[in-house]
Amino acid sequence: MVNESKIVIVGGVPGVGKTTVINLVLELAKAEKMKILTIIFGSVMMEIASELFNIQDRDKLRKLPSDKQKIIQKEAAIRITERSWHKMTIVDTHYTIKTRTGKYLQGIPSWVSNALKPKLLVIIETNPEDISKRRDVDDSRLRDEENIDLLKEHQEVNRTSAITICQKTGALLAIIKNKQGQADEAGASLFRYLKSI
Ligand code: AP5
Repeated sequence: MVNESKIVIVGGVPGVGKTTVINLVLELAKAEKMKILTIIFGSVMMEIASELFNIQDRDKLRKLPSDKQKIIQKEAAIRITERSWHKMTIVDTHYTIKTRTGKYLQGIPSWVSNALKPKLLVIIETNPEDISKRRDVDDSRLRDEENIDLLKEHQEVNRTSAITICQKTGALLAIIKNKQGQADEAGASLFRYLKSI
């Protein structure tokens, strides 16, 4: 049976504000009585990491050896596909993950994109200076230290990764700027894109 779900992948470097923007979309959707499911890829990975490797802290996920991260990632893609069956679904995730050695791990390699079959990819971006400030004031998470040049590089790598996924899957691509103090505008843009697929 064909999965008729409409999966939209939303990614961006940690702390850019993707979860904030997605939560704003959910409020807009509620006001219009539109059903949207949100799945946080990292939360599904946490369930699996806890079952397989007894990991309890989500900020420790990206520090695991990459072969373990890939095992968890593969199982997460299967669970997300099952949970999103026939639903409009936002998958809150990362195009690339900075590992503890500084190398980038693909967030949506072929075993993830083949399972999810996304219709739309969205990159949330803003200028590196603002991301750095947001990470500094966000006490809820243990964010990595990335200087402005590395944040710029990480955003560039994310664009390349997203375009490669579009080439493989035929998904469309949108880039949304989450400017300082303007998360509402970013949320409204994302909501417009969702309604158009
Ligand atoms: P995940 O749970 O997604 O965590 P994260 O990316 O590290 O961080 P967040 O998602 O919490 O940050 P955010 O960008 O959503 O920012 P927020 O809205 O909080 O992932 C956890 C882990 O799972 C990853 O580290 C990785 O290991 C793993 N993982 C996930 N997907 C994977 C995959 N596909 N493959 C392998 N591993 C994967 O906002 C941050 C702050 O900014 C807040 O204080 C907020 O108030 C503020 N803010 C937001 N917008 C604005 C604005 N416009 N102006 C001013 N302030 C703003």
